[in-house]
Amino acid sequence: AEPRHGNQPRTLDEARAEARHCKACPLWEPATQTVFGKGPDHAPVIFVGEQPGDQEDLAGEPFVGPAGKVFDAALAEAGIDRDQAYVTNAVKHFKFVPRGKRRIHQKPSMGEVKACRFWLEIERDLVRPKLVVALGATAAATVLGKAVTIRDTRSRLIDLEEGAKLLVTVHPAYILRLPDPESQARETEAFHRDMDLVRATV
Ligand code: URA
Repeated sequence: AEPRHGNQPRTLDEARAEARHCKACPLWEPATQTVFGKGPDHAPVIFVGEQPGDQEDLAGEPFVGPAGKVFDAALAEAGIDRDQAYVTNAVKHFKFVPRGKRRIHQKPSMGEVKACRFWLEIERDLVRPKLVVALGATAAATVLGKAVTIRDTRSRLIDLEEGAKLLVTVHPAYILRLPDPESQARETEAFHRDMDLVRATV
């Protein structure tokens, strides 16, 4: 059974306030704060990342660090206004190991992803978007409830319940990690084409 916290929140503000005290998995303790989703109540599209990074943990907002820059550039290129979208993560706390003064990002475990999943369900229930965009395999698996590969699911509209669609694309941090400029350019282009599909769908 998935952990529940009090009553079902009726608004995003209520959900956000409740999530501040979430202890559904151990990640709450070392993290600075819960990084809940951000965006308007009835956004036509929800973007789902993996989990907040170092800068998001400090700012309390999703996608404000280096991956956020890649994301913002792709939105701008496609003509999507980020303020009209709801942006969130599969896991709402930063996971890291300290190394000197730095905090090195760690991938969330399956258990942490599962423990956090009900928050994304609440966000989707309240926002009721036309389109859910999964940025990377963790987000895709969280939305679909099963492990999937980017290769098998990318760049096409997948039916969700109640007429909503899912679009799976890469995580912007994946592009940043690519070793050579050619593959970065190629993957940036492919990511931008996926954002064009978002623009055309919402
Ligand atoms: N990576 C994510 O998946 N989400 C963020 O909010 C930032 C980086």
